[in-house]
Amino acid sequence: MTEPPIGTPDQRVRVFVSSTLHELAAERWAVREAVTRLRLTPVFFEQSAQAHPPREVYRAYLAQSHLFVGVYGESYGWVAPDTTMSGLEDEYLLARELSLPRLIYVKRSATTREPRLAAMIDGIRSSADVSYREFTDPAQLRDQVEQDIAVLLTERFHQSGRTPQGEAPPSARTPLIGRETEVAALTGLLAEEGVPLVTLTGPGGVGKTRLATDLAVRLADRFPDGVRYIDLSAVSRTDLVGEAMARSLGLRTSGAGEAVEDVAAFLRSKRLLLVVDNFEQVAEAAPVVARLLRAAPRVTALVTSRAPLRIDGERVYAVAPLSSPSTSDTDPAAAAAHASVQLFVERSRAAEPGFALTEDNVDAVAEICRRLDGLPLAIELAAARVRLMRPAGILDLLDSRLSLLTSGARDLPARQRTLRDTIAWSYNLLGPEEKSLFTRLSVFTGGFDLPAARAIGGPGALDALDHLVENSLVDYAPDTSRFGMLQSIREYGMDRLDSEADGTAAHRAHADYFHDVALEAGPELNRRATRWLRRLAIDHDNVVTATYWYFDNGEYDSALAMNEAIWVYWLLHGPIEEAGRISARIHAHGDRLPDPRRSRALLADGVVALITGDYRRGRSQVEEALPLLRAASDDEGVVRAIGPLAMLAIRERDYARARGLLEEGRQVSERLDERWQISLYHSRLGLIALGEGDHDRAAGLLVTALDVAGAADAPLASIVALYSLAVNAVLREDVDAARNYLLDGLVIARDSNDLNSPSLFIAAIADASARRGDHERATRLAAAATSLRQASGTPWLAWYVPPWPGYQPVDAAAYAQARTEGATLDLDGAMSEALRD
Ligand SMILES: Nc1ncnc2c1ncn2[C@@H]1O[C@H](COP(=O)(O)OP(=O)(O)OP(=O)(O)O)[C@@H](O)[C@H]1O
Ligand SMILES: [Mg+2]
Repeated sequence: MTEPPIGTPDQRVRVFVSSTLHELAAERWAVREAVTRLRLTPVFFEQSAQAHPPREVYRAYLAQSHLFVGVYGESYGWVAPDTTMSGLEDEYLLARELSLPRLIYVKRSATTREPRLAAMIDGIRSSADVSYREFTDPAQLRDQVEQDIAVLLTERFHQSGRTPQGEAPPSARTPLIGRETEVAALTGLLAEEGVPLVTLTGPGGVGKTRLATDLAVRLADRFPDGVRYIDLSAVSRTDLVGEAMARSLGLRTSGAGEAVEDVAAFLRSKRLLLVVDNFEQVAEAAPVVARLLRAAPRVTALVTSRAPLRIDGERVYAVAPLSSPSTSDTDPAAAAAHASVQLFVERSRAAEPGFALTEDNVDAVAEICRRLDGLPLAIELAAARVRLMRPAGILDLLDSRLSLLTSGARDLPARQRTLRDTIAWSYNLLGPEEKSLFTRLSVFTGGFDLPAARAIGGPGALDALDHLVENSLVDYAPDTSRFGMLQSIREYGMDRLDSEADGTAAHRAHADYFHDVALEAGPELNRRATRWLRRLAIDHDNVVTATYWYFDNGEYDSALAMNEAIWVYWLLHGPIEEAGRISARIHAHGDRLPDPRRSRALLADGVVALITGDYRRGRSQVEEALPLLRAASDDEGVVRAIGPLAMLAIRERDYARARGLLEEGRQVSERLDERWQISLYHSRLGLIALGEGDHDRAAGLLVTALDVAGAADAPLASIVALYSLAVNAVLREDVDAARNYLLDGLVIARDSNDLNSPSLFIAAIADASARRGDHERATRLAAAATSLRQASGTPWLAWYVPPWPGYQPVDAAAYAQARTEGATLDLDGAMSEALRD
């Protein structure tokens, strides 16, 4: 007989806590408190007295956990017969095997530590991938754990935004209610041959997204390349759909062609389920989906949209509301058989843990569900009120108020009206401060964090925000510490905002807030870029929305300032098309800018042109800008213009001109103390020496560039110096040195979230392997570089460095297997292949 799988009951982030059973009781409590405070789920092994042997149980629990916390004192723990180590050590080793992030806390006062535990701790302390801390008392432990996990979770979240794996479907924090029929039918439909597209349609709040994301998780195993999730709710313009898709998929586009082409190239060979959420936002872009599905015959799309896409091969599945009891279902058991009642009860319990369906309230609950047409979102909003009143009270309020609230929405289909009315109802029950905060928060695109909410909502925002979360008008995701609003709710908020006197003020506060974020990020991006790159990536939609708000209000100077500040973000993260569009638009309205700023706009537009390969236009714009910037004594602008022009001169082997420009640039950079520019100055002199065949001098200059960049913590400049050093080393036939430079550069590029240049490094490392005679690895890496590059377009780095000096031919036929393997490697896989000795 097979044992049932060991499951944990919910879907939240789980923290496995390991320590010996009888020692450290107070400490275990402290950890539990820290974990629950963060709204995560602690997992203690002793909780699970089940019919499984202990090792199997904790193994299963560990496998379902996301973090490992080890708390150690004096005792090593009991070693069971037939085993060689205690559960304590075994748990730690298992966690390592599972690559769980491990946080270890050792009690400082432990003087008589058992030797085996001491040895184990020594081993842990010397591992690089573990967080190790000592503590003295439980209170300190609690604070440390809370803080460490919070930091770790933000990092993990950020990382997941970085991988070229793209976005995973949002994980639900509550179980799916009902929908058995739908899940079965859709599972069958999505497995059918010749069904490229299934569209889930239905009014707002009916549960399309919820159903789609649940299906995605369920079906992930059936598709060899898994599931990808694309949310279009923040995209309002049809022509941006390709880019939004590329971004969600983690692809970096080149800016040379249409982003859709990059998406098609990526999907072409994939067998995956592509979930596209909120398509109604961009209904006219249906041909884009048709085009992608034609290009990628083994991709199946699951789209949610309020209306069908109407393209070939589409199967429309209308998502119905949840079933509601009829008026004759008057006993609790009969009513509870209906999904809408179950949902109401679940959500009421979340608001008020003692809530239960009883003889007394069943009629009211059933009537609420009917009244709300079984619409999940409306039911959630109503249930949130259970904290303050009984279901009968809610029903009264619904009856008396709902009918009054249909203002201006008569033309909507009935269910949509129900939803709108329910949102309005929920809104009208808010206090004045909460109302005002709610409408203001609808200015955010793609969610927001607490500081942003404060900036938009003012000092009282925190309390009011709490109420909004309690009332289900705002969502909070504890694992990312971000807030968000469901689409229908946000739309309601936007409508109100636009009709309110201070609507503009909220938009301005939003724009100004992200303007300030961009300006704060600016100087940091040239130094320690990583943290700020992540920060900007998370708020990408907000940053772009802010920029376009300035456009709409004719404030081009603010848009320009933002765009200049986050320039490095556009380079490393992209999409460069967006930077190009923004720059072009500012430039086109140059007459709205004061004089020296107009030249900056010209410059920015020219530099994007150069990087995306339009040398002719780029050159003429930057050349036009430089004298104007000089005349305006705009030093920063001068340096920014000189770099690209010097680069063009170097490419044309006009070294005298290049030297002249560089010297001017150096003087200005030193005045400004722009260390990363000084590093680039040395790199460029190095490229001149390299071009003149003086490899020793080139090496000296490039090493100086690297030192300056390293001291200034400027990843972009380090990457440029390292790649150039590798080129120089290969030309001197020192392949080992070249490989080392390349590996260093690759690691820095990856660690600084540079999504573009890794493929360039990997291609060069492949060549270094070929030169060393390792053809198999060369083939594998070259294939990896090609497939990574397909997805990432033209890397910015190519503009800053000399081309790689000729690739060694490899007999590809002899290494067909290696090529196939290499083509499937992702960045991490390719990196370990490159780094392997
Ligand atoms: N079967 C279900 N079980 C539990 N919760 C559900 C279920 N269906 C919907 N919900 C909840 O109801 C709310 C609305 O659902 P959802 O966001 O999926 O609607 P939607 O149809 O995608 O709306 P929109 O058109 O506005 O995007 C969400 O909070 C969702 O989690
Ligand atoms: Mg939705």
